[in-house]
Amino acid sequence: MNKLAFIFLVVLVAWGCKDPEPAKPAEQEYQPTPVTLDLPYLFPKMVIPADNPLTEEGIALGRKLFYEPMLSGNGTQSCADCHMQNSSFTDPARFSIGIDGLSGKRNAMPVINVGWMDKLFWDGRANGVEDQATFPVVDPLEMHADWDQVVEKLKAIPSYQELFRKAFKTSGITKDRTVKAIAQFERTMVSYNSKTDKVAVIGGGVFYSDLEQEGFDLFNSERGDCFHCHSGILFTDNLFHNNGLDETHDGDKGLFRVTNNPADIGKFKTPTLRNIEFTAPYMHDGRFATLDEVLEFYATGVKVSSTLDPLMGHQGGIDMTPHEREAVKAYLLTLSDTTFLNNPDFFDPD
Ligand code: HEC
Ligand code: HEC
Repeated sequence: MNKLAFIFLVVLVAWGCKDPEPAKPAEQEYQPTPVTLDLPYLFPKMVIPADNPLTEEGIALGRKLFYEPMLSGNGTQSCADCHMQNSSFTDPARFSIGIDGLSGKRNAMPVINVGWMDKLFWDGRANGVEDQATFPVVDPLEMHADWDQVVEKLKAIPSYQELFRKAFKTSGITKDRTVKAIAQFERTMVSYNSKTDKVAVIGGGVFYSDLEQEGFDLFNSERGDCFHCHSGILFTDNLFHNNGLDETHDGDKGLFRVTNNPADIGKFKTPTLRNIEFTAPYMHDGRFATLDEVLEFYATGVKVSSTLDPLMGHQGGIDMTPHEREAVKAYLLTLSDTTFLNNPDFFDPD
């Protein structure tokens, strides 16, 4: 063997014995920690999409993104600017102002118990919580950004790469993963600690006052009829109804804008009544500043039109006496959940 061949052999052997590539921190190595929501038994099961299971890391990332102004075009507005925790994640302003100083024609909706919704927005134009989160980022009246730019901005921040790696086993940041994380956080935003929840626990020792009980009875009676639409433990059927706000609907046509079906003119999504004390102003256009005004409307102001919901059998209103309105209001106030408003798990993480 000549010298050159020998050296070649030595190099070859050395190469073969070399340790395998020192493992780069392999992306697959991180296992996100699964989370199961611990909800009272009266709540229906929350259906979580198979491709977006809840994990501690996903929820933490979603929470950070919910408060992240980089999601807006000029870096000044986050989801939380229009969805404020002390207002049960809605905006106390009648119409929220977007980054360009423009406002829409609808009142912000509370982000609460959205994990049970498959149609979101007043007109149901979003299919699911993940889909919903794609809209405000690009809406010219809201965060007015471009998803590609948002993704580039997030990619430029090493701490975000790390958070995405922990949540999704890859540091690849995409629009899809961004909205998935936000949706995970939103699914944890459940209100279940109101007085009504405590009364519902048999043997729990919490009872309604006489006035609240009177309101409960009327709410759930054929005459009051509130329970048909604001139904179940979520206090919404998550469906769309015309509750008689307008005769002519020459303004916002609601569900019709999505379906183009004339039978849907003036139908809007039934809002939950949970935390209603903190979500003023009321209705899709925030036309009522107080609950008294809402009850005045249901008592005397219901307008008949071709799409008025048959459940609003009491056309014109249900003629509640002032005392009965007070009772219904007292009952509605038992849906207040201050634990939710003060839950540190939902605070801005920074
Ligand atoms: C400029 C204010 C503004 C910003 C910013 C904003 N929203 Fe909203 N949000 C609204 C308004 C207004 C509506 C109702 C719009 C409609 O129905 O057309 C709404 C509706 C929603 C709903 C629907 C709830 C339901 O019951 O159907 C969810 C969920 C939501 N927003 C989450 C978010 C998230 C997540 C972000 C951030 C990515 C965000 N919002 C940013 C104002 C805002
Ligand atoms: C036919 C279904 C239906 C019935 C019955 C009904 N509601 Fe509603 N309710 C709705 C819909 C739909 C909206 C939203 C309408 C809109 O904004 O255009 C609404 C809005 C509200 C709001 C405002 C919520 C918010 O966040 O803006 C309150 C409060 C309310 N209803 C209470 C009641 C009470 C109390 C009763 C019984 C007296 C009642 N509702 C009966 C469907 C119904």
